[in-house]
Amino acid sequence: MTKQTIITLPGDGIGPEVTTVAVDVLKAACRAFDVEIETIERPFGGTGYDTDGEPVTQETLELCKKHKFVLLGAVGGPKWDDLSADLRPEAALLKLRRELGVYANLRPIQVYPALAGASTLKEDVIAGTDILIMRELTGGIYFGEPRFTTEHKGEIWSVDTMKYSRSEIQRIARKAFEAARFRDKRVCSVDKANVLESSRLWRKSVEEVAEEFPDVELSHMLVDNCAMQLIRNPKQFDVMVTGNLFGDILSDEAAMLTGSIGMLPSASLGDGNGLYEPVHGSAPDIAGQGVANPLAAVASVALMCRYSLKMEEAAAMIESAIRSVLDDGYRTPDLFADEEGTFRSGTTEISVRLLELVKEKAVV
Ligand code: IPM
Ligand code: MN
Repeated sequence: MTKQTIITLPGDGIGPEVTTVAVDVLKAACRAFDVEIETIERPFGGTGYDTDGEPVTQETLELCKKHKFVLLGAVGGPKWDDLSADLRPEAALLKLRRELGVYANLRPIQVYPALAGASTLKEDVIAGTDILIMRELTGGIYFGEPRFTTEHKGEIWSVDTMKYSRSEIQRIARKAFEAARFRDKRVCSVDKANVLESSRLWRKSVEEVAEEFPDVELSHMLVDNCAMQLIRNPKQFDVMVTGNLFGDILSDEAAMLTGSIGMLPSASLGDGNGLYEPVHGSAPDIAGQGVANPLAAVASVALMCRYSLKMEEAAAMIESAIRSVLDDGYRTPDLFADEEGTFRSGTTEISVRLLELVKEKAVV
């Protein structure tokens, strides 16, 4: 058995519930391929603030950098909403992404056949959708300086800065083109080049990178149109590459194509580090009730196997267990639509079934 250490940051709300399931499934799947997963857990986000007086400590950041592979649950909640910007749970997440240098955020949008009826959109519109959103994660308006609030001429003003350098754009564009080579070889770059200066540089820089990839087709789309096209005809997209803020918004929208935001995993990569998190938030309204959908967190550890641990077979094993659980009819309340052959289930029930499935697959 080889040993592999990962850091877990369960965080707030439903974060701990879904992280537990994901870790159990990860351990079982890796064990099947003779890899022992060891976890080091640290408080993070609001829970970090309650424990240490700050949402993430320097020690935790160092630990994440040292071990390189991190699984995060979720951060945030009303309890911490009134804290100053630098103490808010979200600040910890942004700091972690930045410190790890994980500039490429991969959000795969796949419609599981068993869930095609669970979306608020028509089944024939979404069935067969398979999109990879490549969101730039460590730049843009999330991090641009200056940012401040001030009083001037009897008025209060706030400033955020949307800023991208050519090299920042080109490294994420390159990731998108590389990913497209393993897919349908199409990249759609999303910007607001009809208005924003930073978007005009974005478009030009992506076009330069496209010359390195003559086998991949590049198109451009304005972000407002893209928001519409995503629900009008999502099947038109293969790989979508976009900046931090646009990617944040479009990926929530795209999540609804899968039936529930509770289904969406993510991988953030860069500098040899990997940060894995479900896209859903901390859902404080349902925390502690045992009804959280753990599948996005579980799908996130599948991505960890694929991109960081380089265990493609374990990744495939986990993904096939997710499909089986859905085919068997298990549905957490976010997915439950009272369809024939489906039944309402809790987080633990799904976890137990996933572990059974992984063990069965490990034996054959
Ligand atoms: C996400 C989240 C975060 C973001 C928040 C929690 C800071 O919405 O991962 O999409 O805006 O990036
Ligand atoms: Mn978001």
